[in-house]
Amino acid sequence: MDKQRLAEIAQAIVQPGKGILAADESGGTIKKRFDTIGVASTEESRRAYRDLLFSTEGAEAYISGGILFDETIRQSSHQDTPFVRLLADKGILPGIKVDKGAKPLAGFAGEKITEGLDGLRERMAEYRELGAKFAKWRAVITIGDEIPTRFCLEANARALARYAALCQEAGIVPIVEPEVLMDGRHDISRCRAVTAETLQRVYDALFEHCVYLEGTLLKPNMVISGQDCPQQASAEQVAEATVSCFRQVVPAAVPGIVFLSGGQSSEQATENLNAMNAMGTHPWELSFSYGRALQAHALQAWQGKSDNIAAAQRAFYHRAKCNGAARAGTYSRAMEETAA
Ligand code: 13P
Repeated sequence: MDKQRLAEIAQAIVQPGKGILAADESGGTIKKRFDTIGVASTEESRRAYRDLLFSTEGAEAYISGGILFDETIRQSSHQDTPFVRLLADKGILPGIKVDKGAKPLAGFAGEKITEGLDGLRERMAEYRELGAKFAKWRAVITIGDEIPTRFCLEANARALARYAALCQEAGIVPIVEPEVLMDGRHDISRCRAVTAETLQRVYDALFEHCVYLEGTLLKPNMVISGQDCPQQASAEQVAEATVSCFRQVVPAAVPGIVFLSGGQSSEQATENLNAMNAMGTHPWELSFSYGRALQAHALQAWQGKSDNIAAAQRAFYHRAKCNGAARAGTYSRAMEETAA
């Protein structure tokens, strides 16, 4: 294992002012997104949509990495440039989603386990050949009356650790993503307790699997109120709860934390990240790896029409720029008014 190379890649992804575009929606998820704008999900419509995101001029000032889906890593731009090369030429590191999705955990109603470990070593070797520098595996933890169970947390933590070890064996930086869902009426303190326990199990498992933490990144949820909780925490409360929770359970050897947006509005996700970075310096870089929060406005602007590509690119560029500012704690709502 070339530890130094892994650490360099991880650090490049969380370099100041930049974060990750998560554009690795699976077939089912991208269909759900396209349904909201009435566009059929076909190989060509998916290609055209990712093309507009990756071809956005200047976005590389704020985007250090792009996560692709298996289909996308094999596709090319309208000018026939393979997406991997298009990104690499802009200095954006290509990444790949390697899990095969979260499935019901047998025997544990309402809980999920992420699949995809079988054959992963061979798939990793191929993705490396295709140019992937980092990978992602998402575990899903649901909050409910009696859940998550300890068994579910441990099963998912072990799968994340086995994935991470295989990534590093292949010279690929693992993004370790345990997502505690924001669905539900629970309050922010319940989210904090579940997030802390989840992360503790994940770092126990990573330690046991001899994963080199300096060559990893963490992609977690923020500590926030449940979506249907009547009492919604402010950005400052979210920032305080998230940072203080993570200080207790995320080792300082981890170079960066790249948050998912998880269903927050685009502006809220930016505001929360900004509030964390405005608190001062932390043991790790605090960055973003947003899917919906970077893409939602662009998707709405696009509507599947080539005439709208420029408007969609402006919308994507604007969100990338706002989140770039949030990396330094210098974002403000005024930036939204100056939107193109
Ligand atoms: P969201 O930011 O839309 O949650 O997507 C991030 C992601 O990659 C989830 O796995």
